[in-house]
Amino acid sequence: MTYARILATGSALPDRVVTNADLEKIVDTSDEWIRTRTGIRERRIAADGETTGDLSFRAAQQALADAGVKASEIDLLVLGTTTPDLIFPSTACLIQHRLGANGCTAFDVNAACSGFVYALGVANNFIRAGQSKKALVVGAETLTRMVDWSERETCVLFGDGAGAVVLEASGEPGILATCLHADGGYKDLLYNPVGVSVGFKDEKNHGVRITMKGREVFKFAVKTFDALVGETLAAAGMQESEVDWLIPHQANLRIIEATAKRLKMSMDRVIVTVDKHANTSSGSVPLALDAAVRSGRIQRGQNLLLEAFGGGFTWASALVRY
Ligand SMILES: CC(C)(COP(=O)(O)OP(=O)(O)OC[C@H]1O[C@@H](n2cnc3c(N)ncnc32)[C@H](O)[C@@H]1OP(=O)(O)O)[C@@H](O)C(=O)NCCC(=O)NCCS
Repeated sequence: MTYARILATGSALPDRVVTNADLEKIVDTSDEWIRTRTGIRERRIAADGETTGDLSFRAAQQALADAGVKASEIDLLVLGTTTPDLIFPSTACLIQHRLGANGCTAFDVNAACSGFVYALGVANNFIRAGQSKKALVVGAETLTRMVDWSERETCVLFGDGAGAVVLEASGEPGILATCLHADGGYKDLLYNPVGVSVGFKDEKNHGVRITMKGREVFKFAVKTFDALVGETLAAAGMQESEVDWLIPHQANLRIIEATAKRLKMSMDRVIVTVDKHANTSSGSVPLALDAAVRSGRIQRGQNLLLEAFGGGFTWASALVRY
């Protein structure tokens, strides 16, 4: 049996920190409202000219260096993002060239905030099928580029960042199960109304911006994670008690707490970075994973449950023996 094992992780954040107090100066909000409703205290925002590709490149370089793998050894590069540098080529192609991995399979996956877990699921299947021996998987966003800074309902929620993992084909367990889902019937609850084919302005002459029915998204996320946990454990043949760490999508601390409760996990076994990063969409799960690996909390041999949720709706999970 061939598994995809995580050799190493990496991450990258923009330098600029924007606190809730900073946002109080631009919209009618308060640090107290943001903290109690979401758990967010601050977020990072990309500098002018700093792109999803730049953050991806830095995260990938770190993961490759820590794995001791040369870019030229990578035969697959899958990048989850909904904020690519360009419409085409894909951001995966752009960073493939910068890294020096030219020639390998490289493509982006757009599954909104589930982008990284989707990309991980895709790479896992390439490795299990024998089509890849060493893969680089990235989740990266500059989501604040599509935030309307006059809308307090959304602008306080998002941030920018990237994370990456290097996977290797191995006889030792690695990724034990992945579950990937989508239901396009929920499009109107969370979407960006403009794009190439419909045009770059909507009927109200608005440009690119996140449109969201927050309360409904919240309810659906809690319900969906509840079912996803059960499905993923069953797919891996595991019990709740065997999961060492929950690494959830970092959108809202209250959603994370509800999932931990479902897993009967105390919050000290849950990786939380939403306070520092806000919702970085595809960047969120790999950023949290890398933070926990670097701080020494996650140890080799432990079981990690990764899960994400995003526009589409999409939802996805991975159970990983680290
Ligand atoms: C967005 C979210 C934080 C709002 O929290 P909530 O408890 O549902 O709050 P509500 O939407 O009920 O709004 C409550 C009030 O706060 C106000 N409000 C909204 N944003 C605010 C802000 N930034 N600051 C202050 N007040 C705000 C609303 O206008 C509303 O006022 P009203 O009662 O006078 O109408 C929450 O619904 C959420 O996190 N949803 C999921 C969003 C998400 O994760 N999206 C990404 C998924 S990948």
